[in-house]
Amino acid sequence: MQLKNVVPWGRNLQEYKEMGLFSDADRDKKILGCGDGPASVNKELTEIGVNITSIDPIYQFTKEQIEQRVQESAQVVSVQLRKNRDDFVWKNISDVETLIQLRLEAMDNFLQDYKNGKKQERYQYQELPKLNFKDKEFDLTWSSHFLFLYSEHFDEEFHKKAIVEMLRVSKEVRIFPLLDLKNKKSKHLTSVLKYLEENDYTYEIVKSEYEFQKGAFEMLKIVKDSLT
Ligand SMILES: C[S@@+](CC[C@H](N)C(=O)[O-])C[C@H]1O[C@@H](n2cnc3c(N)ncnc32)[C@H](O)[C@@H]1O
Repeated sequence: MQLKNVVPWGRNLQEYKEMGLFSDADRDKKILGCGDGPASVNKELTEIGVNITSIDPIYQFTKEQIEQRVQESAQVVSVQLRKNRDDFVWKNISDVETLIQLRLEAMDNFLQDYKNGKKQERYQYQELPKLNFKDKEFDLTWSSHFLFLYSEHFDEEFHKKAIVEMLRVSKEVRIFPLLDLKNKKSKHLTSVLKYLEENDYTYEIVKSEYEFQKGAFEMLKIVKDSLT
């Protein structure tokens, strides 16, 4: 991965809650966030005593490198958002300026926590589809705005392997959203769901409160049947 090709963009805990990835009922769970990137969710949950580890390929870079890239990207993203504003639902977040402010705040929180969090191994440089954790080491593993969203970049096989690996290390997996970057249902979704059914996984599609990308208001929850 080259940092110059990455547009760091991170959400906060409130948004993870609205997506349905985390609720107060999950406070005592051991959590793994896959692709949390520069989101502030790890910092915010750690502060309230939740046990969370995040993995992401951008964690191979230093705080200074990520910080510089955040600053370079903010301007580009802001132009793109203005151009494509009709692709988004301006309900909870009223306009582009407020959104940029919210994202920069979340990423700033992440950056402040990054060095310390790396020392504590809360931020680990790992990437799907292979995780360096023991079987069922976690209670809950999630992906926010990575799996399914990048369906043009990662193929069906990648998605199946990544989800099976997440369910190897965890009792439950939650994924949001189920749309791709063009706001279309991911072209891998139907075959991934069929694969899950055939391999004794149980899933549920849950409606979430969060809808920023138009039509992206569903979260996929998966467990491995305990009988198999
Ligand atoms: C759009 S960002 C989402 C960040 C955060 N989850 C959020 O919702 O605010 C997508 C993240 O996926 C990460 N990513 C890319 N390839 C990955 C892989 N193979 N395994 C895990 N994460 C990956 C990127 O580095 C980036 O941080």
